Amino acid sequence: MKCALLTGGGDCPGMNAFIRAVVRTVLNLSPESQVWGVVDGWRGLVFGQYRLLGKRDVSGIAALGGTILGTMRFPELATNVEFQKQAARNLEEGGFDYLFVIGGNGSVKAAWTLEQILRRNSWRTRILVAPGSIDNDVCNNYGTSIGFYSALERSLEMLSWIRDTASSHRRVYLIRSMGRDSAYLAFYAGIIGGAEYAIRPHETVDFEHLAEIAAQRDRDTIIVVSEAYPKSLREIQEILEGIFRRRGIEREVRAVDMSYFQRGGKASVTDILRASWLGYRMVCDALRGAPSGFYAAYYIGHVQDPLPLEIAADDARTNHLDIPPEVIRMALALR
Ligand code: F6P
Repeated sequence: MKCALLTGGGDCPGMNAFIRAVVRTVLNLSPESQVWGVVDGWRGLVFGQYRLLGKRDVSGIAALGGTILGTMRFPELATNVEFQKQAARNLEEGGFDYLFVIGGNGSVKAAWTLEQILRRNSWRTRILVAPGSIDNDVCNNYGTSIGFYSALERSLEMLSWIRDTASSHRRVYLIRSMGRDSAYLAFYAGIIGGAEYAIRPHETVDFEHLAEIAAQRDRDTIIVVSEAYPKSLREIQEILEGIFRRRGIEREVRAVDMSYFQRGGKASVTDILRASWLGYRMVCDALRGAPSGFYAAYYIGHVQDPLPLEIAADDARTNHLDIPPEVIRMALALR
């Protein structure tokens, strides 16, 4: 078997564990096979940039954040038909039986686009995709993406640091979280970090209510803000300060952005295990000649049928960017 392996979109912890699992499983279960790492994600596939990976190339990387293969944003692929054809042609001409991908929902869509070109031309390559994104916006009604729990662990640590200083000063801290247009990372960070409130991207915020929450707390108030919420931290800060002034509440407000720190660092145990399991399973399926598909990440040992790429790439059928109401009720109950 000749395989290509690609990490797409924003990097996340767990991608390296996936790379290691795919390379080791292929070379241990099918020693005559080859795994070629695509350098810098989808862009590297279009421009034919690969490197052959051996077992030693993936030593000691399971817990390492980022991706050793590199990844670059390449939005052109979504619209440039020539790039799409070139990527598919490179797979065919390179004689690749399988392309293994880990990435976010942009990668799932790219995989589906290439899949259609490959099948139309009766070319050989099959594409197997695993969800890798801190945003948890990849088919998230079928599991949670790899990288999500690692980013939550990082967030928990940062929120606890902020809590120390916030409580010393009777301050309100507004903390910006990544997650793109998905509420998951910000909201779950709020739950685990014991935030007093987490602002979701599309909600209508009652700032008087937020000010009231801060007023009723003896000292610190932590508010996590999703990056896709339309108001900036500065604007939210000014609104709250205005309300505090008007109502004679003595609270200072500070704002901090934890975004890129959330994406880096060591992978969580959960993400290492799930990425390893998924990589292993996908290779086993490939060795049996499986068709293209999307593999949701549950937990180690769990076997579940892959979804057709066509469904995985369709936001209307798979993506819930907002938090289920029951989880919101739980968060309020725990406050
Ligand atoms: O998709 C992962 C993510 O970290 C998002 O949460 C964020 O909106 C985006 O990537 C930032 O992307 P970039 O690093 O390319 O600016």
